Amino acid sequence: MIPLSSFRIVPNTTVDRSLTFGESAVRALEGALGDEIDLRTSFRIARSEITTWPDYCPTPLVEMSGLARDLGVQQLLYKDEGWRFGLSSFKAMGGGYAVSRIVARYAMESTHAANMTSKDLLSGRYSSATSQVTVTCATDGNHGRSVAWAAREFGCKSVIYMASIVSPFREQAMISLGAEVVRSQGNHEDAAAECRAAASERGWFVVSETENATEPAIAADTLAGYATIMSEVAKRLPSGEPPTHVFVQAGVGGLAATSAVFCGLQWPQERPRLVVVESDQADCILRSIEAGEPITVTGDLDTVMAGLAAGEVSSYAWSILRTGADYAMAIPDEAAVATMQLLATPQSGDTPVVAGESGVASLAAALLVLQNNAVREQLGITRAARILTIGTEGATDPEVYRRLVGLSPEEVMRRT
Ligand SMILES: Cc1ncc(COP(=O)(O)O)c(C=O)c1O
Repeated sequence: MIPLSSFRIVPNTTVDRSLTFGESAVRALEGALGDEIDLRTSFRIARSEITTWPDYCPTPLVEMSGLARDLGVQQLLYKDEGWRFGLSSFKAMGGGYAVSRIVARYAMESTHAANMTSKDLLSGRYSSATSQVTVTCATDGNHGRSVAWAAREFGCKSVIYMASIVSPFREQAMISLGAEVVRSQGNHEDAAAECRAAASERGWFVVSETENATEPAIAADTLAGYATIMSEVAKRLPSGEPPTHVFVQAGVGGLAATSAVFCGLQWPQERPRLVVVESDQADCILRSIEAGEPITVTGDLDTVMAGLAAGEVSSYAWSILRTGADYAMAIPDEAAVATMQLLATPQSGDTPVVAGESGVASLAAALLVLQNNAVREQLGITRAARILTIGTEGATDPEVYRRLVGLSPEEVMRRT
């Protein structure tokens, strides 16, 4: 178990628990993205394309039976995105997929082809067209790595902007995937502004899930790619029964929003309660849910959960989470670190898992809730509960991992 640490959880008083939530969520997101987006088709195409990629393999859905037993619930699941395409994070499914679509659209336009699949692009036949494309983004690590990887795979160029504090390891990972990396002197917001300015001057494509940065079609593809993660979960549920509770972490909220839409469409009758988890240093969604409108968190957003260090919820995500999140929760760094350690050296007989700081946030939140009877009751968690958590990253920076866990990722893997 992890040491008890303080956390905040707030109920969403405007949550829509009706059977038609999935339909309304699709309409809300399409409304936010613009008329030309058909979200269900985007979800379907994303799944059919990503599953043809050469190294595609569903990531493990780890059943933590020992922890579940000790914490008194029927099931505790951890979707381990640490195994995604050798990139160690779920971001390949979003930004990576969006890059493939940008390149496909460009190649279709320039060759007048009626359709262009990932397979067509990967064959290299269209490389003279695809090499004209440059994709760009601002990143604190995972997103940029996925964009750089997909640019290499699908034959275009990438230029990645990073804040001054992003670790040299993360920078090197992008360079070795062929990206040009531009270091901003400032923070993430400065890097994002520089990225947008360069893109509009040079005709580059910004890969993002937020409205002020990118075209709606690119944001829609990013979100659609994430839906494939949830569809893998739905196909592999150990008991075949949907989770009763889903804990998912958020930065700008794209993954959480897509999870909410997916749950609404997939399990309208038994839609799981959705708990959106943030760092307590970057709790913009929690504050927005409390206020009933988007609230920006300012300050240095200094958290070890670097992927969650966002001060503002994306308006696309907000169009869903406003009524689709049941609870918002904010946890301290110490809970994330303790959960990384627990996964590396489990006490309950479960298999060790290598998981990164931002990746464990949803599991950390679930563990804190499960150890608190009053909150368990508030969330309706009984002994029959089936809890799903999304492990969004593995050891994306091995040095940081070793410092926080006391073991290297390889040492943990050897124990499995
Ligand atoms: C490991 C990890 N988990 C979660 C998130 C949050 O995703 P979102 O910004 O879609 O809410 C990020 C974002 O970069 C991340 O890197």
